[in-house]
Amino acid sequence: MSAPILAATGLTKRFGGLLAVDGVDFEIARGEIVGLIGPNGAGKTTFVDLLTGVQMATSGSIRLGERDATRLSAHERSRLGLARTFQIPRPFQDMTILENVMVGALFGVGGRAVGMEAARRQATDALARAGLGGLADRRTDILTTSGRKRLEIARCLAAQPMLLFLDEPLGGLNATEVNEALDLIRTLRDGGVTIVFIEHIVPAVMSVSDRVFVLAGGRKLAEGKPAEILADGAVRRAYLGDVGGAVRRYRPAATPAGGA
Ligand SMILES: Nc1ncnc2c1ncn2[C@@H]1O[C@H](COP(=O)(O)OP(=O)(O)OP(=O)(O)O)[C@@H](O)[C@H]1O
Ligand SMILES: [Mg+2]
Repeated sequence: MSAPILAATGLTKRFGGLLAVDGVDFEIARGEIVGLIGPNGAGKTTFVDLLTGVQMATSGSIRLGERDATRLSAHERSRLGLARTFQIPRPFQDMTILENVMVGALFGVGGRAVGMEAARRQATDALARAGLGGLADRRTDILTTSGRKRLEIARCLAAQPMLLFLDEPLGGLNATEVNEALDLIRTLRDGGVTIVFIEHIVPAVMSVSDRVFVLAGGRKLAEGKPAEILADGAVRRAYLGDVGGAVRRYRPAATPAGGA
């Protein structure tokens, strides 16, 4: 792997007697799409919380490029190029869709240097990239589940992230919407955003990921290319069952990584 843009070592989160994340090592290189899978309660969301600074690790360390990010706040990590969507989107209901996304621009890489006009431009661009271009002035309550997921992604894009974490971006979507969301994820990566993506729709994860990372009981169970993970006996016993054939339900990437 080329030099990782993020590297976690021995990452651990304890809630009382429960080790939600237990000594996990993880690296990601620029341009990768990594699928993060595992049973309910495996620690996936907590793991992403630790990486993004939403929660502080009990022990272990996190590097962002050359920088020790272990004790940095979510806000500071966002300025360094991290963004994440939440499993359950909670948009600001009394703001328009554009205004919700402007919040992302104001807390992102440009941070305080971004004036309101620049934030509006970044948000408008982010909405277009996320496929919500026509809805800027509408209220968030008109959005479907798919639309709310896209709003979360747009809010992240407005912050101009280098590394984007998506927590179940396909949850609650129908098959057509899943394919559209997978296309969006590929397009974002081809546009230069590195992606870590938690998801339970395993065939969809397998169709889009360069590498799959499996958590179970807070620990890393396996890591590898999609085909390796699908064939892994421990992963099948802990989580997958028989999903191999279902992978064909989702379109493969139209162009290989780095393609036109
Ligand atoms: N704030 C908290 N306080 C106490 N326990 C927590 C807290 N957050 C998560 N947990 C516990 O930590 C474990 C991991 O939870 P987490 O939400 O990270 O799992 P997950 O893999 O994201 O699950 P799911 O697939 O259901 O979203 C679970 O046992 C959960 O109950
Ligand atoms: Mg979760």
